[in-house]
Amino acid sequence: MDFYEVIYARRAIRKYKADMVPQDILLKILNAANWAPSGMNMQQWEFIVVSGTKKNQIGESYARFSESYTKDWDQARREMFLRFASDFGGSPLLIVALTPASQDDSIRKMHLESVSAAFENLLLAACAEGLGSCWMTGPLRDDAGIRRILDIDDDQEIVAVTPLGYPDMAPTAPARIDPELKSKVRWVE
Ligand SMILES: Cc1cc2nc3c(=O)[nH]c(=O)nc-3n(C[C@H](O)[C@H](O)[C@H](O)COP(=O)(O)O)c2cc1C
Repeated sequence: MDFYEVIYARRAIRKYKADMVPQDILLKILNAANWAPSGMNMQQWEFIVVSGTKKNQIGESYARFSESYTKDWDQARREMFLRFASDFGGSPLLIVALTPASQDDSIRKMHLESVSAAFENLLLAACAEGLGSCWMTGPLRDDAGIRRILDIDDDQEIVAVTPLGYPDMAPTAPARIDPELKSKVRWVE
C-alpha cells in the first residue's frame, strides 16, 4: 500500500480473527514505532506485547471495572462495550504503550507527544501489514489493574493500549468533520 492509502485505510478494529501475528511482522511494526520522532531524541517509549493469560486478565479486569460506570447505559450498547472490553474483539495480542512518568508538566507533555507519535507509527505500520488495531485509552480507567497484572512501576505512565491482530470486520471510514479544512487550518502570512 502506498503511504497515503495506509493513512486512509487504517480503521479502529473491534473484531479480530484468532490467528497469531508472526513474530517477524510484529518486530517490523514495533521497529516502525521505534523510528518515530521524540522530544530531545529521548526515544523514551516502551511497549509491552501481551498475549495469553495476561491478556485475558487485563480484559477481565477492565470489563469488571467498567460494569459500574456503564450501569445506566442502554443495554445493547452496554453489552457490546463490555464484550469488547473483556476480550478486545478476540485479538490474539494487546500492545501497551508506556512512557516515563514525570511531575514536570512540560516534560510529561513532551513524553506523551513522543510516545503518541510512536504509537501512530505502530498503528499505521500494522495497517500496512494487513493487521487491525484500535487505539484505546478506555482501559486506562483501570490503570491499577493493568499495573498489577503487568507489574508496571509508578515511575512509568501507561499511555495507550491497542489490540492487534487480523481484522474480522471492515468498518467504513467515519466522515471528516471538516473535509475542506476550513476551520481546521488557519493560513497566516
Ligand atoms: C486517544 C484515543 C483514544 C481512544 N480510545 C478508545 C477506546 O477506549 N475504546 C475504543 O473502542 N476506541 C477508542 N479510540 C478509537 C476511536 O474511537 C476511533 O479512532 C474513532 O472513532 C475514529 O475511527 P477510526 O479510527 O476508524 O478512524 C480511541 C482513539 C484515540 C485516538
